[in-house]
Amino acid sequence: MDKRDLVSVFDYEAAAREKLPKIAFDYYSSGANDEITLRDNHAAYERIRLKPRVLKDISQQDVRITLYGENISMPILVAPTAFHRMAHPEGEVAVARAAGKAGTIMILSTLANSSIEEVMAEATGPVWFQLYVYKDKEATKSLIQRAETAGCKAIALTVDAQIWGRRERDIKNRFRLPEGLSIKNLSSGSDQFPDGESGSGLASYVSWQFDPALSWKDVEWLCANTKLPVLLKGILHPEDARLSIDHGAAGVIVSNHGARQLDTVPATIDALTDIVEAVEDRIEVLIDGGIRRGTDVLKAIAMGAKAVGVGRPVIWGLAQDGEDGVKRILDILRNDFELAMRLCGCTSVKEISKDLIF
Ligand code: GLV
Repeated sequence: MDKRDLVSVFDYEAAAREKLPKIAFDYYSSGANDEITLRDNHAAYERIRLKPRVLKDISQQDVRITLYGENISMPILVAPTAFHRMAHPEGEVAVARAAGKAGTIMILSTLANSSIEEVMAEATGPVWFQLYVYKDKEATKSLIQRAETAGCKAIALTVDAQIWGRRERDIKNRFRLPEGLSIKNLSSGSDQFPDGESGSGLASYVSWQFDPALSWKDVEWLCANTKLPVLLKGILHPEDARLSIDHGAAGVIVSNHGARQLDTVPATIDALTDIVEAVEDRIEVLIDGGIRRGTDVLKAIAMGAKAVGVGRPVIWGLAQDGEDGVKRILDILRNDFELAMRLCGCTSVKEISKDLIF
């Protein structure tokens, strides 16, 4: 493939489909059940029309933002996704390096093929840690402590996946990690997923290890026991956004887990407005799911998100070209966002408002 033909996230996705083994591509790309929400996550952005302003002197531009005191170069973060070494031998380490070069935040998954320490040793920018809560409380506490000690700047607690969504492609593929890869944060050796009722080894692992009793009490415990800001990832209901504030969260990530958990929930952009209203600026609201274009970023910010996360696009860049591929994806999104912003008559992120939505 001539690299000059890879000009959009969609081009990188098509290239990854060619390049990756089917079991890996299906794992990354699939959604739950009929994948209705998976399609809708991006289609919802396509339904929204913009109402640009003109004659605003767009000769300058500035897309930097500040998030929890950290200056980042753009409101586009690397969302947490699992098992990066299935896409490239350098996996999460390559992603951390690319995010640092792009001047943005990487959210590192609990389910990484590289340890927190390996990633932090190479990271040049801020890294947040995405946490799954295990039945084994000591294992969970140790993850939090290791993230703090290694220098992670926030914790994103996933609250929508204590039991696993039904990903039929993984079931049919009998999903397992390839030989030699493991869930590196939780064991040093090569983790074998247990045989379970589901054909997906990961689904069996989750029902064996993750704590389905996770509740608001655990959120309070976490917020009281870490010095890091805690964001709850997987909020779709405005009442849960209010409860997040009551229980000490510093932010919410409006997310449907890349449409991999409960099918037929709304696209995240369709859920955003009610949550922004419920939160009333008391904590930060971020969003992920379906962002593939600069206009998607602009729409999410216009509708009240502070920043967006991109998950699968980063994997497609990683599969193509490791660190350079991820950096290229982040550059494509940044350039596309800058262009959309200026064509809407905005020269800084602060100027992006709901007034731009038709
Ligand atoms: C991991 O978080 C997954 O959704 O597969």
